[in-house]
Amino acid sequence: MIPRFKFDKSYLLGVGVTMELILRNARFKDSLELFDIGIDDGKFISIKKNIPEKGDEEIDLGGRFVSPPLVELHVHLDAALTVGEPRYNLGGSLLEGIDIWSERKKILTKEDVKNRVRKALKWELANGVTRVRTHVDICDPTFNALNALIEIKEEFKEYIDIQIVAFPQEGIFSFPDGEELMRKAMEKGADVVGGIPHYEWTREDGVKDVIFAVALGKELGKMIDLHIDETDDDHSRFIEVLAAETIKNNYEGKVTASHTTAMHSYNNAYAFKLLSWIKKANLNMVTNPLDNSVLQARFDAYPKRRGHTRVKEMDEMGINVSIADDSIMDPWYPLGLGDPLQAAFVFVHYGQMSGYNEMMRLIEMITTNPAKAFGATDYGIKVGNTADLVVFDAPRAIDAIRLVARRYLVIKNGKAITQTKPYETNIILNGKKEQINFIK
Ligand code: FE2
Repeated sequence: MIPRFKFDKSYLLGVGVTMELILRNARFKDSLELFDIGIDDGKFISIKKNIPEKGDEEIDLGGRFVSPPLVELHVHLDAALTVGEPRYNLGGSLLEGIDIWSERKKILTKEDVKNRVRKALKWELANGVTRVRTHVDICDPTFNALNALIEIKEEFKEYIDIQIVAFPQEGIFSFPDGEELMRKAMEKGADVVGGIPHYEWTREDGVKDVIFAVALGKELGKMIDLHIDETDDDHSRFIEVLAAETIKNNYEGKVTASHTTAMHSYNNAYAFKLLSWIKKANLNMVTNPLDNSVLQARFDAYPKRRGHTRVKEMDEMGINVSIADDSIMDPWYPLGLGDPLQAAFVFVHYGQMSGYNEMMRLIEMITTNPAKAFGATDYGIKVGNTADLVVFDAPRAIDAIRLVARRYLVIKNGKAITQTKPYETNIILNGKKEQINFIK
């Protein structure tokens, strides 16, 4: 049982207070041994079984699971918290979601976007996320959403490293002046080139979409992250074009493919060949279980496909696969709270990743794997690195997944920036009161 959390929390109230801090009794993954973590001047200075020195501040973590911060590699912050505006998605399909969003976009203002994004980012932070890659719809000549995100990126820079993807939600070649809008968005300050080939009107335009995105990314020296093959149509095969363009342009490692749900429906002979090209191109792959578990197979009769990309196979081949949220209460997914761990929990079921080793891989898919795709440096709980970490209110990684455990403490630059009190559940049986905590 985890001891109750008792320490002087007064420093949480002091903004900008630098402290020497020792976290006692931290657990990494499911290790049997516990470790102390010493932090000074914003850096990890000692990690060992028992740090003999005293800290100005000491926190006993009571054996709780500790990991590097979570990385949210794929989310649409400009659409966050717009669910029901101007109407709910009744059919539940991706295309209906895009229609609703294009209606909502007409009344978008910069302040509207900023207010919603601030709230969503605070949720992400409280969930232990300190790096976020957000797609921003640039099919809007006013660029209200992009301008809002550029300002928010600056506003939150001390806490969250934000990458903005210029995302052509309505197509590059199927939307008026799409190519010019993409270029302008990058000039204005977007960090990553996006694309959406499967949404273009024709197969030919879809291929052009991929070629344009890779060429623009290479020209500007920027990373590339495309929404690609997010459909149940097994003829949607733009990922092969992306892999080929990446290899031809010597751009391996800088390109990410998001969603790729059509891969679920490809025949195995084709998928096998495709995976080898994805590996050769060193593509980073992102799966979005919350959205795609509800959006995919909407047009299927029974049996209904699951509609996720081939995570297990890619992970076993050493391809870098990440899990991300995609939506936080928007026209495509009405739920969500900006927590990649919740998405990982869903993928245990949706992707049949319930083997012990598979569940351990899920932790990598919300931490180190997306950190790699993000291009994060100075990442990980290592002496000398910046002291960023997250403490889960659970004793082991596997309990963190099972409980979708709240983040007990989030530390950024050596300072505690969020704290969540553990739940306390009391049960009274036969007149006797007992506290239970859902830990075996
Ligand atoms: Fe997305």
